[in-house]
Amino acid sequence: MSTMDDPAMEDPMFQVGHSDGGTPDQRAVAGELSRAELAATREEHARLAEGALVRADELVAGYVPGVNILNGCDFYLQDGELVGIIGPNGAGKSTLLKTLFGLIPVRSGTVSLRGEDITSAPAHRLVSLGVGYVPQNNNVFPSLTIEENMQMGAYLRPKVFRERFDYVADLFPLLGERRKIKAGSLSGGERQMVAMGRALMMEPSVLLLDEPSAGLSPAYQDEVFIRCRRINATGVSIIMVEQNARRCLQICDRGYVLDQGRNAYTDTGESLMHDPKVIELYLGTLAKAH
Ligand SMILES: Nc1ncnc2c1ncn2[C@@H]1O[C@H](COP(=O)(O)OP(=O)(O)OP(=O)(O)O)[C@@H](O)[C@H]1O
Ligand SMILES: [Mg+2]
Repeated sequence: MSTMDDPAMEDPMFQVGHSDGGTPDQRAVAGELSRAELAATREEHARLAEGALVRADELVAGYVPGVNILNGCDFYLQDGELVGIIGPNGAGKSTLLKTLFGLIPVRSGTVSLRGEDITSAPAHRLVSLGVGYVPQNNNVFPSLTIEENMQMGAYLRPKVFRERFDYVADLFPLLGERRKIKAGSLSGGERQMVAMGRALMMEPSVLLLDEPSAGLSPAYQDEVFIRCRRINATGVSIIMVEQNARRCLQICDRGYVLDQGRNAYTDTGESLMHDPKVIELYLGTLAKAH
């Protein structure tokens, strides 16, 4: 799409930065936008998202007729990246993940995987294309054992169960040690591991994680972040929504700040942590103290 089709580009504030080209940094200096705000504009998104593994363009989606929760959201994930999504409550973070996974009706915009259109594709097709999704809640079968939960995860490929279970048990030794225990008797942190393990049984190339550290003790939270990095190091690209914004930005390659259903800022995790506006609006006084 040409940038001229985008009403936002008629805004004089955007035109300061776009009149004479230049790098995002040069344009950020020339205009009012910070580097992370510029990167979140449609033009920069279109440029940076080239060749992405997962890509969403101008997504508009919602639950109730007439009420849009995503309002033209752009997003991309390059192969091998760990991308974090943070933002205030109700910003649409979970809705974005659900929309990427085809669970919410898309009113306009597109989602693609390796260049293939997967907008509103059913979950089973996405799973077979290598997308794993771990929702925030109710993400294990409590009456089944850990091992049975893993079998449910590998239902499309029963022959590789043993090999995949070994991989998962290597990442989460507890799941191997306690394989005969019912998932319902586990703590929140342990259940989170079961949920992630189950998604990994299908050997996904992309994992969508909704608040993997929510409700866990600080020690378990750290554990989850470390595991996510390890999973990513084994070649799984990850999209992670997190309440624990600072920790998320510390470990992710790139982050998005979502606000009112749009990507408001995007940059490396490190840069976002030091962006004055992001600190002011989303990281709070805790971040200022560091
Ligand atoms: N099933 C639903 N039906 C109707 N509205 C919903 C539904 N789920 C979420 N919403 C609304 O969509 C908006 C965005 O919700 P969403 O869960 O995506 O936010 P979030 O950024 O994940 O917030 P949180 O940080 O609280 O998890 C909210 O206003 C919420 O009330
Ligand atoms: Mg949420």
